[in-house]
Amino acid sequence: MADAHISQPEIAPLVEDVEKAGADFHAAKDGDIHTARRNLQHATRKLLQSLEEPNGEVWPRSFQVNVSAAVEVISQLELWEKFEGGKAVALDGMVESTKADKIVLSEYIQTSYRIPGTYSLLVRVFRQLTAANIFTESAGPNFTITPLGKPYLHPDHRAFSNFMFYDLIPAIMAMPRTLEEHQYKAPSKETGTPFKWAHGEELWTWLGSHPDRAANMVAGMRSHAPLNAYPWAIELEKMGSKAEDIAVVDVAGGKGHTMEEVRERNPNIKGRFIVQDLSSTFKAMSAPPVGIELMTYDIFTPQPVKNALIYHYRHIIHNWSDGDCITFLGQIVPLLREQLRSKLLLVDVVLPDMNSTMQQAIMDVSMFPMGGMERTESQWKELLAKVGLSIEKIWRGSEPEACVECRLL
Ligand SMILES: C[S@@+](CC[C@H](N)C(=O)[O-])C[C@H]1O[C@@H](n2cnc3c(N)ncnc32)[C@H](O)[C@@H]1O
Repeated sequence: MADAHISQPEIAPLVEDVEKAGADFHAAKDGDIHTARRNLQHATRKLLQSLEEPNGEVWPRSFQVNVSAAVEVISQLELWEKFEGGKAVALDGMVESTKADKIVLSEYIQTSYRIPGTYSLLVRVFRQLTAANIFTESAGPNFTITPLGKPYLHPDHRAFSNFMFYDLIPAIMAMPRTLEEHQYKAPSKETGTPFKWAHGEELWTWLGSHPDRAANMVAGMRSHAPLNAYPWAIELEKMGSKAEDIAVVDVAGGKGHTMEEVRERNPNIKGRFIVQDLSSTFKAMSAPPVGIELMTYDIFTPQPVKNALIYHYRHIIHNWSDGDCITFLGQIVPLLREQLRSKLLLVDVVLPDMNSTMQQAIMDVSMFPMGGMERTESQWKELLAKVGLSIEKIWRGSEPEACVECRLL
């Protein structure tokens, strides 16, 4: 294969883009910092990728799942906890405690080449994760967790990876086959979702009959980026929220973790917080978070809680097809018409019309198994118009998701 490196003149403008994005990031004030950081990431990635030799990138790209598999092995062996506190952990100790297979090198090789005595199956797993910048490696060999690895010290992030790896990625791997079988037609209520195409049952009903996997999914949903797009306290205060009000109904709010965080960050918010979800989800958790009331509710049925100040759906719209969204949003719009004080917030990614980032594209394809999708701003407008809504404002923070505040048309 001929060397296909991109030429120096083609690289030059990309270097300029990085310099400009770097200067903008340096000069950014509080309100612009998230956009400036994203622009710098985007420009830097484009430059880095342009420096790769394109033929040589085909193999690593095909094996990206190796990183997820290696994360799972470390979780399975319960090794993440050893990295608490940022200390360097010796491979030898981990080989000893896990009984992972090892190869002892001859004394001759050890002394002649001054290399450590044992290799192990584990080295190969750590090698993959070190290359992914989740660990750094030093002589010993010892491994130390990096800032990118630290999230895995939290069980909720591990649960998320596990949910993706075992429950969703198999349906994504079946995507070429199932799409061909369905003549590349988008999933619909009649055909069911790609999860059903691959596994014979819908994800949410399957989770209902697999409580251990439901518990893992519920924990995994706590693995999220900081929530700072919507200024909850300021907006509820403007709405005149009082102690006797229902401040927020978080529809399909899982374990109540999002509202727990909103409460913790804004202890002065007045009013009740109600989290609704399927009974199978509530069964998969222990007690509700402090200050949160749980209510079993199916989003496809009429909303029983009247006069709440905010109805909030986070990571719900992207789980479903337009047809399904129209059906369940249709349960809330009549309330909004009667309760003019109430607000509807829909929190999900709002894709740009062109040139999505890798993270945005990954989130979109990840919704494929459930028959859902991430939507561009135009798709959001189209969907909302079909249920008599439009966009009042798109709130953005450092998280990938935006908060779409709706208003009646
Ligand atoms: C992707 S999770 C999002 C959970 C939470 N809102 C969050 O942001 O982490 C989707 C949630 O929708 C719930 N769900 C699925 N089908 C539902 C239905 N028909 N009625 C109510 N909740 C449902 C699931 O149980 C799950 O908790």
